[in-house]
Amino acid sequence: MEKKNIDWSSLGFAYVQTDMRYVSNYKNGAWDDGCLTDQANVTMSECACVLQYAQTCFEGMKAYTTQDGHIVCFRPDLNAQRMAASCRRLKMPVFPEDRFVKAVVETVRANAAWVPPYGSGASLYLRPFMFGSDAIIGVKPATEFQFRVFATPVGPYFKGGIKPLKLRICDYDRAAPRGTGHVKAGLNYAMSLYAIVDAHEQGYDENVYLDSGSRTFIEETGGANIVFIKGNTLVTPKSDTILPSITRRSLVQVAKDYLGMEVEEREVALSEIGDFTECGLCGTAAVISPVGTIVDHGKEIHYAGFGPTIQKLYDTLTGIQMGRIPAPEGWIEVIE
Ligand code: PLP
Ligand code: COI
Repeated sequence: MEKKNIDWSSLGFAYVQTDMRYVSNYKNGAWDDGCLTDQANVTMSECACVLQYAQTCFEGMKAYTTQDGHIVCFRPDLNAQRMAASCRRLKMPVFPEDRFVKAVVETVRANAAWVPPYGSGASLYLRPFMFGSDAIIGVKPATEFQFRVFATPVGPYFKGGIKPLKLRICDYDRAAPRGTGHVKAGLNYAMSLYAIVDAHEQGYDENVYLDSGSRTFIEETGGANIVFIKGNTLVTPKSDTILPSITRRSLVQVAKDYLGMEVEEREVALSEIGDFTECGLCGTAAVISPVGTIVDHGKEIHYAGFGPTIQKLYDTLTGIQMGRIPAPEGWIEVIE
């Protein structure tokens, strides 16, 4: 199979339309058989529930070319599980988890020419998503839904590649106590748009959100969880209102089992972030992006950027994903 003629190493994180995507429709209480299509556009009622009341959720995952030339995907079962949780919270029908994984695999296979080659620094980003598609005017869930998976080749999420990030403690909130912060609802991201534009205008790469109940604990950023390092310990915020990042959960295991580190998953107070020596953002898009500075209302806290531990975590996780380091059982789904 011939790869697309793309300068893979200069890709940023932007949508590129690929050849095929997966679509399945839900109507009269059941999902149809689903299929691949070359139709990238969606047509629906002006009154579709997603357009009026934001009834939509999504996932983010990546396919990679490994060192030995296979195409693989990282822990898709966990994305399937999390999407099911998002659907339940948003009153959407679950797309069965085994079918979710099959749909992702089919989408990657159909776009194999778009999977960046090993060593290019790029990957094929996969975006499974679902939305309420029938006309709803009173505030209630849709009765018809569409599930889709598209693929788009991407490079680094943050502009400038993997230079250390400058973050700010954000005065806006991302998620409410007992709200939807723990699921991947589109509305969480709508909530964050004002704050991210403002952050960029002020010269920051991302916002660090605090818990909106007390505004004293660190939560996460708009698109990634946070990890801190002190000595041989990885510390990461535990909260009911952050997204349960698959990358973070994997790093916790990598830190313990591969690097012999201590791990603390606990509340992290804003007042203690100056005690850490390294900090990183973790997520599918972010991978592990090193943090150089967090600014808390004029007070600057500096971290080592790609310090020794963030570097080791990065090398081990990406080594597992790219097939250079043996993976724990069940982490790698081989597609071809
Ligand atoms: N937190 C938020 C708000 C995100 O959007 C993401 C991205 O998916 C993450 C964390 C990281 O999650 P994961 O590692 O599962 O991609
Ligand atoms: C991902 O990492 O997959 C996400 O969904 C984060 C988003 C900000 C691109």
